[in-house]
Amino acid sequence: MTFDEILTARRSVRAFDPERPVPPEHVLAMCEAAQLAPSACDTQIARFIAVTDPELRRQVCGQGMGSVVRNKFSAKAPLILVGCADIDVAANRVAGKIIGLEYYQLDMGIAMEHIVLKATELGLGTCWLGWNNEETLRTILGIPSRARVMALIAVGYSTRTTAPKRRRTPLSRVLFGDQWGGTFP
Ligand SMILES: Cc1cc2nc3c(=O)[nH]c(=O)nc-3n(C[C@H](O)[C@H](O)[C@H](O)COP(=O)(O)O)c2cc1C
Repeated sequence: MTFDEILTARRSVRAFDPERPVPPEHVLAMCEAAQLAPSACDTQIARFIAVTDPELRRQVCGQGMGSVVRNKFSAKAPLILVGCADIDVAANRVAGKIIGLEYYQLDMGIAMEHIVLKATELGLGTCWLGWNNEETLRTILGIPSRARVMALIAVGYSTRTTAPKRRRTPLSRVLFGDQWGGTFP
């Protein structure tokens, strides 16, 4: 696949084949792709927990934001990758204080999207899961207080035959030229 083909093929998948596990070599390839991501001050704070154990997956997919968003579909995904930031890294804390930005959040977004794009190349479907209960996940997965749980990615083989229509904000409202609101030539 070309890079453009990967970008176009990637869609959020919410229908997984529960009987088809993700090969371990694919898990390694996805996490190696994440490790190639840039990180602020090269702090490399991204950590991933690959949850495949059925009982743990049931617990992980059963947490979430109460009745607001349950992401029930994720229970059929054979793999849940839990993205954590190991923020107890001095450089990360210092840079964040000086600039006033939580760099680890940017780092995790980049690393996790590397995972998603690599998964697409490997023929896997993914869906980001952002509605989580961090404290519940800490308890289930033994995540220490030095780390933040940022998001989960459900991974598996899609059973979907067609993708929903893609809706995107027009580029003219996304890309400005020289000034906020300016027209790019
Ligand atoms: C940080 C983040 C959190 C998300 N959380 C959820 C989620 O909890 N549940 C869900 O079904 N989709 C979630 N999504 C997927 C978005 O809904 C999806 O990317 C968006 O609707 C665009 O569709 P597409 O990914 O097919 O292009 C999340 C995406 C991102 C980037």
